[in-house]
Amino acid sequence: MQRQALGWRQAGSRVVLVPTMGALHDGHRSLISLARKKVKKDGVVVVSIYVNPVQFNDPQDLDNYPRTLSLDKKICREESVDIVFAPNNLYKKDESVEVKEDNLTTRLEGVHRPGHFTGVMTVVAKLFNLVLPDFSVFGEKDFQQVAVIRRMVRDMNYPISILVGPTLREVDGLAMSSRNVLLTGDLRGQATVLSRAIELSRQSIGSRSVYLKRRLRRFIEKQPDAQVDYIEFVDTINLNPIKTVNKGSRILLAAKIGPVRLIDNGLL
Ligand code: PAJ
Repeated sequence: MQRQALGWRQAGSRVVLVPTMGALHDGHRSLISLARKKVKKDGVVVVSIYVNPVQFNDPQDLDNYPRTLSLDKKICREESVDIVFAPNNLYKKDESVEVKEDNLTTRLEGVHRPGHFTGVMTVVAKLFNLVLPDFSVFGEKDFQQVAVIRRMVRDMNYPISILVGPTLREVDGLAMSSRNVLLTGDLRGQATVLSRAIELSRQSIGSRSVYLKRRLRRFIEKQPDAQVDYIEFVDTINLNPIKTVNKGSRILLAAKIGPVRLIDNGLL
C-alpha cells in the first residue's frame, strides 16, 4: 500500500482516504462521494476496510460486528473508488507503540469504552502512514471521534486535512450504522428513540442540562429494551459539558437497545 502511495505522491496526484470498518451503508457512501468531490476525477480515492480489533473493548461486539467484504467492494465499484485497501491484519504480535490522547478521550465514549480511542487513533495513524493521503474524510455521526482525530492531526503534525460529512439517517430518523443490522425484531423500532430524544432536546433550549438529561433518560428508557449509557450537552469545540442547553451546543448520547450499543448526536 505504501509503495503504491509513494508512487502517487511522486506523480503529484491528490489522494483522499476514507477509513471504514466495512459493512458499508449510505452514510459511508456519502463520505466516499465527498472524497471524490474533493479530489475530482483525476485524484485518487482510497477506502480502507478493516475491522480494527484494538478499538473494541467488548470481545462480543468484535465477534458480532458485521463483515460483508464482497458487498462492500461492489459498493466501492459503484462509487468509482480507485483503491479498496482491506488488509487482513495491521499489527505485529509484539507491537508496543500506540497513540494516546489525554484530554478529549477522558469523557463520554472514552469513559464507557476504555481504550477505544487509543485503538482508533493508533489504526488511523497507521492508515495515514500507509496511504499518505492529502485529505481524510470522517463522519459527524462519531462526533467525538472527529474531535480526537483532529487533535491527533494537530498535535502530531500530520500534513493532512480532515473533512467531515453530515450524519445520514433512515427516514424514521435512526442514524445509519453498520450495527443497525443487529437490531432484530422490535429493537429496530425502539432504536428510533435516540433521534427522537435529540429532537426533544431541540425543543428545550434554555433548560438546565441536569434536568433535561434526567428527562431524556426517562424518555429513552420508556422503551422496554433501552438502557442509557450517557447523555451529555457539550460545547462543540472542546466537548466540555455545559450547564444550560443553548443553541449551538451539541447533545451526545449513547444507549444500548437490547444487546446493540448505539450512539448519536445532534446540533441544537
Ligand atoms: P465505521 O464505523 O465503519 O465508520 C467509518 C466512517 O463512516 C466514520 O468516519 C463514521 O463516522 C462514518 N459514518 C458512520 N455512520 C455514518 C452516517 N450515518 N452518516 C455519515 N457518516 C457515517 O468509525 C470507524 O469505522 C472506525 O472507528 C475507523 C475510523 C475506521 C477506525 O477504525
